Amino acid sequence: MNDFLHDLVNNLSKSWSRVGALFRALFLNRLRNVDVAFIREQLNKQEQILFYSMAAFDQRHSLDVAYTLRDLLGKRSKVRPDKLYKAALLHDIGKARTRLLVRDRVAQVLLFTLLPPLANYLADRGSERTGYWRRILYFYKHHPKISAALAKSVSADSETLYLIEQHHAPFTSGEPKELTLLREADELN
Ligand SMILES: [Fe+2]
Ligand SMILES: [Fe+2]
Repeated sequence: MNDFLHDLVNNLSKSWSRVGALFRALFLNRLRNVDVAFIREQLNKQEQILFYSMAAFDQRHSLDVAYTLRDLLGKRSKVRPDKLYKAALLHDIGKARTRLLVRDRVAQVLLFTLLPPLANYLADRGSERTGYWRRILYFYKHHPKISAALAKSVSADSETLYLIEQHHAPFTSGEPKELTLLREADELN
């Protein structure tokens, strides 16, 4: 299989699992008492305000990332879970800076899957105030940085900010294991 086909099949299978996660987050997003208690336990008051500023499905997704981390961690004693849980709950708060409808999210995933060079070109020329396509692609690509800036405004610690900012960065050997875990949990949700 040539490289183009290989990348396309790889991207489509990743995209399919993202679409599944999107549907779960859209239709099974009601917060339960146990979720609210978990959020209170992990986030201070200002961080909670940021968390609740997200759309319901982003709240659900972020909680599910934190719960997946809890499962992945199991008995790994060397990883401190508190920073990871905080990073999981806040990693996508940058998306709250724009109002994204379901069709926008589907368009983001499809464009980055099928036409990555064009999607990247437009995303890098976008901002919160540019036209539709550049704006939604900008948020898709750059939300980790925006999320980290927002988290910094309520003074999350530097390790948590690093995890938030790097959560879509490609894997590098030698990266903190917390980042690898966060990326893995994010991709599963
Ligand atoms: Fe993200
Ligand atoms: Fe995410």
